[in-house]
Amino acid sequence: MDGDTIRRTFLEFFEQRGHRVVPSSSLIPTAPGLLLTNAGMNQFVPYLLGTERPPYLRAATAQKVFRTPDIDLVGHDARHLTFFEMLGNFSFGDYFKEDAIRYAHELVTKELGIDHDRLWVTVFESDADAEAIWLDGVGLPPDRLVRRGKFDSDGESLNFWWMHAAGPCGPCSEIYVDRGPAYGPDGGPDVDEERFLEIWNLVFMQDECDEHAEVVRELPRKNIDTGSSLERVAVVLQDVASAFDTDLLRPLVASAEELTERVYGRQERDDVSLRIIAEHARATTFLIADGVLPSNEGRGYVLRRMLRRLVTHARRLGVAVDVMPSLVATVIERFHGAYPELAANQAFIHQVATSEEEGFARTYRQGMGVFEEEVAKAKASGSKRLSGEAAFRLHDTFGFQEQLTLELAREQGLEVDADGFARLMQEQRERARRARKRGEGAGDLGEVAAEGGPTEFLGYERLDADAHIVGLLRDGAREDSAGEGDRVLLALDRTPFYAEGGGQVGDAGTIRTATGLVQVTDTRLGPGGTIVHEGVVTAGEVRAGDEAGASVDPARREATTRSHTATHVLHHTLRQTLGEHARQAGSLVAPGRVRFDFTHYESVPRDALEEIEAIANRRLADDQPVRAYETTLEFARSQGAMALFGEKYGDLVRVVEIGDYSIELCGGTHVHRTGEVALLRVASESSIGSGFRRIEALTGPDALAHVNVERRLLEEVTEALGAGDPQTAPERARQALARIKQLESELGAIRRTARTQEVERFAASAQDVAGVRLAVARMPGGADELREVATALRKRLEPEGAVVLGAAADGKALLVAACTAALVARGVTAPNLIAEAAATVGGKGGGRTPDLAFAGGSRADALDAALAGIPARLLGLLGG
Ligand code: GLY
Repeated sequence: MDGDTIRRTFLEFFEQRGHRVVPSSSLIPTAPGLLLTNAGMNQFVPYLLGTERPPYLRAATAQKVFRTPDIDLVGHDARHLTFFEMLGNFSFGDYFKEDAIRYAHELVTKELGIDHDRLWVTVFESDADAEAIWLDGVGLPPDRLVRRGKFDSDGESLNFWWMHAAGPCGPCSEIYVDRGPAYGPDGGPDVDEERFLEIWNLVFMQDECDEHAEVVRELPRKNIDTGSSLERVAVVLQDVASAFDTDLLRPLVASAEELTERVYGRQERDDVSLRIIAEHARATTFLIADGVLPSNEGRGYVLRRMLRRLVTHARRLGVAVDVMPSLVATVIERFHGAYPELAANQAFIHQVATSEEEGFARTYRQGMGVFEEEVAKAKASGSKRLSGEAAFRLHDTFGFQEQLTLELAREQGLEVDADGFARLMQEQRERARRARKRGEGAGDLGEVAAEGGPTEFLGYERLDADAHIVGLLRDGAREDSAGEGDRVLLALDRTPFYAEGGGQVGDAGTIRTATGLVQVTDTRLGPGGTIVHEGVVTAGEVRAGDEAGASVDPARREATTRSHTATHVLHHTLRQTLGEHARQAGSLVAPGRVRFDFTHYESVPRDALEEIEAIANRRLADDQPVRAYETTLEFARSQGAMALFGEKYGDLVRVVEIGDYSIELCGGTHVHRTGEVALLRVASESSIGSGFRRIEALTGPDALAHVNVERRLLEEVTEALGAGDPQTAPERARQALARIKQLESELGAIRRTARTQEVERFAASAQDVAGVRLAVARMPGGADELREVATALRKRLEPEGAVVLGAAADGKALLVAACTAALVARGVTAPNLIAEAAATVGGKGGGRTPDLAFAGGSRADALDAALAGIPARLLGLLGG
């Protein structure tokens, strides 16, 4: 059975049993506390916790997931994958253990045709119910049932499943298949998890835990969450050694073979690289398709590291051309049927992957340069090892994996300080872990959300509303009340405040109760659909349960709203002017201000930018209506709505349409007619990494203010130039610059004459030191002038001559020495000649080449003494 058939069989099986087949959610998670989507259940967290009412009670998905405790290990065996497809069925308070187990058993044995006699099962040690269902209900022999605890000795989950973040959790039961003696010893999963391969995990989701896997409460309803790796099922059904030999990954391995001209399965060292190329090509393509962009932090960093790791391995196998284009094409070809977003974003994925690869190729060359320097340093100091710092720097700055540095070093007969490297890596991991901890974990906020449920948002229609405070946090901890001066997070049952999202900033304003007042400075989305108001109590006291009047700052909101509509118009105009590839890659929609990032491979010329600004403003002046409505995702797509990345699509989506030209999925606030925006003024256009551009613009009255600032500047420049009229200012400026140039050239000529005379004078005063002509003098000037005179003078002192010039400025001394070639041939070099003098002025000789050297020191007062010692020094160097 091929991978596509397994996926289809699974989904159809559950669809026939009353499950809604829901599309995979994005790899960018909707659940808080996660870096990347790590389980099928992520998109259903609010349903499982009971904070949102599910629109269906049974669901089934093929979910894109990403799991990686340590990316660097992937590829070294054939077992680990970062990205994989997880098949799952879910019950939100509907069926529980009995049906979950029966369904799984039926699907595995009847539909997938895996023999009942090959199955092994684990259950949570105290889960007598699950055990009874497996033994009595399904007829599993007791000797193939294994009881396990919550965690193993390393703290890894055994028969307890949680998200590795705060959220729903519960005991679980895993299904294993015996692949036969060819794969390992007998005895069940406790003996060998290669031969006994886990294919399915059934989680009885009945509790909620915190970010340390401590259960904090029982869930209101009992749920089912299951996860089955499609790749592993394929391994069993296709009876192959690993996922890399299944029809899911084999085409990618073939692509890697073709690029590298190696054959998979011949040499372990090549196999590691081929697996890394194949696996990472798939993972990176899916990440980009979901809108993850390479960066130096968070999920962007995961993507960047994997891409670099992949490219490095390709280079190590001798590939000189870019590999991403053909790899991305293979991934899209293989998976676009099941994941249409791959084909829909094809051009975008290619562009991001290729430009990152090109950028890295440069970094790689630089890294090799640094590596060579480090090798030279180690060898020069007689060391046989490369320092841990060097290996870490190569890893961190240039993306060189430890393995690569090890191999490169070995070729140079060096080893690497692995302990030092490991220590630095560990420190970095600690830093990252602390950073994650600070930013995430729902904690008390989660509790408030769970009790209050999702907040009703009223802010599309109005800016004021009466509501109740359902919970409040002071300094991050849940409290019953807060007093003047306290920083608080407030949740209301309903609110007109817009929570930051879709690029639009959160609202500010006030929340007033009978006894107190809160100035809200920001609003954002909390767990479970809560809207969280962040602010300070500025008067009296506020209490949980209070009635409250919530008022959004209208001026700030209106200015933001204008910006949001302007952003859609700008987006449309960019695509129309630059081409369809100019897609939104990120945005900031703020009061009177817009930052818009988009995909484009070169800078936008000034003329084009002016045209874009003009077209966008014409569109605004057309005063077309802006309509926002909710509809199904399918309908919105059929209308050509542009979906943005990373949004979670429920069944209903919000569509914003402008006139008949722009239609986007968007949850933001918008003006009613485009004329309300009044003005869009582009302030700048710049690069934010290869393939990405950023436009910053101002809107409404802020755009006008910006124009006024520019006018003021022009007036000041006009006045400074004495132009009288701004019209003539540019011409005036050009004339003034031309005049400065002319004067500079005249001045240069005068200086040159003076210098020639100086050279003559110094040459005439040269002394004879054992047959060598030596000129020593002080002169005014900087390094350039001294060098110029010194080199001219040197010519005049041929064949055997030397020059030392000194200058003092701002209490510092500067020395320049020059020697003729014939003198250098006798072993007298310029750095040597001024070494002593340099020490006298309290500095160091900065020798550059044997015939020219500079030195600087902090003691200008010792300059004369330094110069006075030169003849003796020369004599000494000549061996006299
Ligand atoms: N959520 C179940 C699993 O990932 O195994």
